[in-house]
Amino acid sequence: MAKTDIKLTVNGQEAAGSVEPRTLLIHFLREQLGLTGSHIGCETSHCGACTVDLNGKSVKSCTVFAVQADGGEVLTVEGLAQGGELHPLQAAFAEDHGLQCGFCTPGMLVRAHRLLQENPDPSDAEVRVGISGNLCRCTGYQNIVKAIRNAAQAMREKEAAQ
Ligand code: FES
Ligand code: FES
Repeated sequence: MAKTDIKLTVNGQEAAGSVEPRTLLIHFLREQLGLTGSHIGCETSHCGACTVDLNGKSVKSCTVFAVQADGGEVLTVEGLAQGGELHPLQAAFAEDHGLQCGFCTPGMLVRAHRLLQENPDPSDAEVRVGISGNLCRCTGYQNIVKAIRNAAQAMREKEAAQ
């Protein structure tokens, strides 16, 4: 099948590849760019394990074609830590036991990151609605919600101190 060249920015770095029209963004990220942090669960847009940011919005990368990301900006879980330091969300998930098997975690973190961009001080209920597209089979969500709210507080305090 004929391939199309695409160029995009992934985690702040320029990236390029050659994809078939049917190539999914998750496959491009994992197989061509080697960014295997985003997981593949259902491939039917239900589980959220493949969640990434595309142009400032959360998307399920199993239901986006790679060509749709041409010229765009993508953030994956690999882009959260900066300068060797965990993102406050990653630190809070570790501290508050916001994960067990970890399969949902990359998608959950990237979704939570976008949620906190949209609402820096969400209530428990708002966090639960915000992550409702991301399924976790292990935790019962309680510690995920706690971790996201604690990260939100840490981020607000950091910003206020700057
Ligand atoms: S793998 Fe994309 S939503 Fe489940
Ligand atoms: S930690 Fe196992 S699916 Fe969420």
